[in-house]
Amino acid sequence: MVREAHHLYIHIPFCLQICPYCSFYKDIAGPGKADPLVDAIIREAELFGHRAAPRTVFIGGGTPTALSVIQLERLFAGLRRHIDLSAVGEFTIEMNPATVTARKASLLRKAGVNRVSMGVQSWDPDLLRLLGRVHDAAQVRSSFAILRSTGFDNLNLDLIYGIPGQTPAQWEDSIRRTMELEPDHISAYCLTYEEDTDFFRRKSTGEFREDVDRDAVFFETAAGLLHDGGYSQYEISNYARPGRTCRHNIAYWEGADYLGLGPSAWSTVGDRRWQNVPDTAAYVRAVQSGVRPLTSEEILPAAVREAEKIAFGLRMNAGVDPARLAANHDLVASLRAEGLLEDHGPRVRLTERGRLLADEIAAALMP
Ligand SMILES: C[S@@+](CC[C@H](N)C(=O)[O-])C[C@H]1O[C@@H](n2cnc3c(N)ncnc32)[C@H](O)[C@@H]1O
Ligand code: SF4
Repeated sequence: MVREAHHLYIHIPFCLQICPYCSFYKDIAGPGKADPLVDAIIREAELFGHRAAPRTVFIGGGTPTALSVIQLERLFAGLRRHIDLSAVGEFTIEMNPATVTARKASLLRKAGVNRVSMGVQSWDPDLLRLLGRVHDAAQVRSSFAILRSTGFDNLNLDLIYGIPGQTPAQWEDSIRRTMELEPDHISAYCLTYEEDTDFFRRKSTGEFREDVDRDAVFFETAAGLLHDGGYSQYEISNYARPGRTCRHNIAYWEGADYLGLGPSAWSTVGDRRWQNVPDTAAYVRAVQSGVRPLTSEEILPAAVREAEKIAFGLRMNAGVDPARLAANHDLVASLRAEGLLEDHGPRVRLTERGRLLADEIAAALMP
């Protein structure tokens, strides 16, 4: 029997400009590229979308709203033809502030999108320039106002800290100015130097330097200011007002099955995990020939899926059921002794210090 995934991800790789720190699969939006991609995603939904019965949908990228209004309309109509979206409770789309228009916002509302996630990263003009961002702070304000006036009552803004040269005052200022807009959700990511990015190269040459102690202070600053502003941390990088956590991302962290469409998208259904090819032209060719557009597929041992669920579960403030940690008795004892793991009601979770070492702890949990 085909197992159905309750969470659907769709990847649109196009961006107006490539940011030098970003390692998501992306491509400069250009004439002639978007229409074939939209057709191919609709075809992929027709061929393989029967594996999804989504309760959450997340259209990410890249910058999905780099598509035109007409292309977005076509994409939504095509998806609806092949996938039953009637049970979707949370429908998110990612936007770059430079791609928000009143027409696009209104089309998205009509199409059933009820959550928007927008990349702000920083409010400082010099840092925005260093990050290669295509927008300025004023555009963040005007785009946010457009989304609110269109009726979006569930808005997330992304911030990045640990940017080369960023001062504590600049980070505090970015958090405060973000909170002044009163978004429903704020993601505060520590900059990661991803391989194959210009930032990674500049770190390798010694131009940029990672400073984990400074990053730890930035993390604590964010947690404190956001908490005081009414945003509860529910995962290491994610803060929400009551009732506004991201259900799609929580499903990932809880280890639920998900289906991904579009170039580079990952899927995990049952004991299988696969990735679509991170190349738009190759993806379009494969799908239009009726072939699964895969770059890799693996069978996941049950122990690996269980370890992933624990590792991601520990990243969430709700923590995990201690019974699930029984097989990791020695590791758990040493994490507790080092003050990295704590009881939280009937569950266990990482302490604030443990959250700073979440990646290392996740690696130690893998079988
Ligand atoms: C697909 S992008 C968001 C939408 C849109 N493309 C934009 O940039 O405005 C997802 C988010 O990932 C975060 N991100 C990307 N690369 C990162 C990196 N190297 N380190 C930390 N956060 C990163 C950014 O905060 C970004 O907003
Ligand atoms: S951060 Fe967003 S806009 Fe920048 S390259 Fe990545 S996906 Fe594109």
